[in-house]
This record gives sequence, C-alpha cells and structure tokens, in this order.
Amino acid sequence: MLSRTNFQKELNGKKTDLFTLRNKSGMEVAITNFGGRIVSILVPANDNTTVDVVAGLDSIHHYENETYYLGALIGRYGNRIAKGRFSLNGETYSLAINNGENALHGGSAGFHNQVWDAEQINENTLKLHYLSKDGEEGFPGNLAVTVIYTVNDDDSLEIDYKASTDKTTVLNLTNHTYFNLNGDGSGAILDHLVTINADRFTPSDETQIPIGIETVEGTPLDFRRETKIGERIDAENKQLEIARGYDHNYVLNKKGNELSKAASVTGPKSGITMEVYTTEPGMQFYTGNFLDGKMPGKSGKPVDFRTSLCLETQHFPDSPNHPEFPTTTLNPGEIYKSTTIYKFLS
Ligand code: GLA
Repeated sequence: MLSRTNFQKELNGKKTDLFTLRNKSGMEVAITNFGGRIVSILVPANDNTTVDVVAGLDSIHHYENETYYLGALIGRYGNRIAKGRFSLNGETYSLAINNGENALHGGSAGFHNQVWDAEQINENTLKLHYLSKDGEEGFPGNLAVTVIYTVNDDDSLEIDYKASTDKTTVLNLTNHTYFNLNGDGSGAILDHLVTINADRFTPSDETQIPIGIETVEGTPLDFRRETKIGERIDAENKQLEIARGYDHNYVLNKKGNELSKAASVTGPKSGITMEVYTTEPGMQFYTGNFLDGKMPGKSGKPVDFRTSLCLETQHFPDSPNHPEFPTTTLNPGEIYKSTTIYKFLS
C-alpha cells in the first residue's frame, strides 16, 4: 500500500501529492504531480485480486534521487539529441549534455523532475499542467504543456498531451513507465511475450544516435510475430551490444498520425496482456538494461536489471538533426497533440 503522506512535500514552492484514479471495474492508477509520474497501476485479475504492473518507488524523496525516469512524463525532448545541438531558423541551440556526449530526456531538470500543477477532475481523470520557460535546459520558447491522464472503463489508461509555444521550438513528449506484467517485484521480464507492429527501426551508433532506418527482417529486433524477450536478447548483434539489450526506436507501421496499435506485451505468470495504442510514429522498446538495483522499489525489491520494460511512444530520436524523419518542430500558433493508450486484458 502506498502512503499518500510520503508524497506530500513542498519543492520550489510547489506542493507535490499522490492522486488516485479509478474505473468501474476496480482498475486503479496512482500518479504524483512530481514529474507527472505513474507510481502504480493496479489491474483487476481473474480471481478478484489486482496486480500492480508498474515499477515504482514509495516516496517523493526516492523519486527525487532516482536516475531511471521511473513512470515520468518526459520533455521537452524524449530520447536523445546528438551532442545536445540543433538548429532552427538559422539559429543554433545547445542543450544540457547528460548522457555521454548527448542530451537525453530533456536534461536533468527535464519535465520528469518538475512539479506540475494538478487538478483531479473526477474519479477517472487527472489534469496536469506545466509551463516550461523560454531557455529552460537550452530549449527556445515558453512552452505550455497539458497532460490528461484518464482511466477508462475498458481497463485502459489514456494519456493525452497538448502543447503550444510562443517561439519556434522542438518537442517530443512521452511517458517513461516501466512495466512488469507479472507484477512489480516479480523478477526479470525475459519471459514476457512481445509483439511490435513495425517493419523497420532506427539502428544507432555507439552513442545511441540513429544512423538511418532499416528493416527488422532477419534481425533479433523483429517482433512482428509474438516472441519471448529472452529468446534473442543476448544474441550476437551489434545493435543489442550497443544498448546491452533492447533499447531501440521502432518505426511503427501506419499511414499518418491516426491512433493505431503499436505493440502488445503479455506476462505469462499473471496472464495479463497490455496493448499499446498511439498517434505517434515511433516507439522506444527498452528492456531496463540500465536498471542497476540501486533504488529500493515500492514492492520491497530493488529496481534491478531487466526487471521491467518501457514502451515509450515518441517521434524518432535526434529528429531535429534528421530532416528525413517526421518533424518535431512546433511553431507559434500551432497546437501539439498526441495520445497514447495502455490497455490491459486479463
Ligand atoms: C530511454 C533510453 C535508455 C535509457 C532510459 C533511461 O529508454 O533510450 O537508453 O537512458 O531511457 O534510463
């Protein structure tokens, strides 16, 4: 059981708290406005119990000290920007470097470490708002971001993102929840069965920056047919070596920016399946290769190597430096919109 008081703190003059959303069938999602982080998702299982399918921590204090981006809203730019540099309208911008020589997930003061304004609209819905000031972590423009979390009655969690800017900027918003469909604290996710609706992915260089787009055909990255994660994760393959496992952006099979099915994952021990739907063109499949057991998880077990996985819906990494990728530029007067749904079946 999470203790709400462990989440009630004041940071930079703003109050943090823990909010609980519920649907009719007993699905429950706990979210803190510190980083907009999903702390737990209780999925109703067959035998009248619930299974918590999310890796998380039990207090703000622990979230302040973690480096995995557990459950967090990520911005302004989810994933990497090469050397933290890009140009827009002839001007070059330099971001904080926080991942080798690159910028990752919006920098150390990214959205995951900000206190969002929160309003619980009803039992099902939480509205979060954050104003990222012009120049924050090196990004241009005042960017107003609204994220709405809704627990729907079909046992899905919907995340709706909206943003606008007063100066041309780049953004790539996502959520970095780590899932274990067998239950938080139940061990490695190597037995999970995964399907990804993508014929192509963006292979990366040694620093995990994309070097193009390639087919998954004939590689251990092919998840077009349901495959156990552990079956090929340690196969001899340059891409898997670089990332110490799966940590790759998939180019989703889709026509435009319609909401479509990106992936599904099943935990064989619980029998729970999660389906992922998104309007985004890409999805990072990450198998928790950098989790190192240093943080105590809310389950009582450390958050350890490959004990949970992320399906981060997104635009492609380093898009500002790849004009051939779908654009991540947002101009004043435009509204950025994105939706991702995690749906659970048991
Ligand atoms: C993303 C990245 C990974 C790793 C995690 C956070 O998924 O692609 O390489 O940095 O975030 O630890």
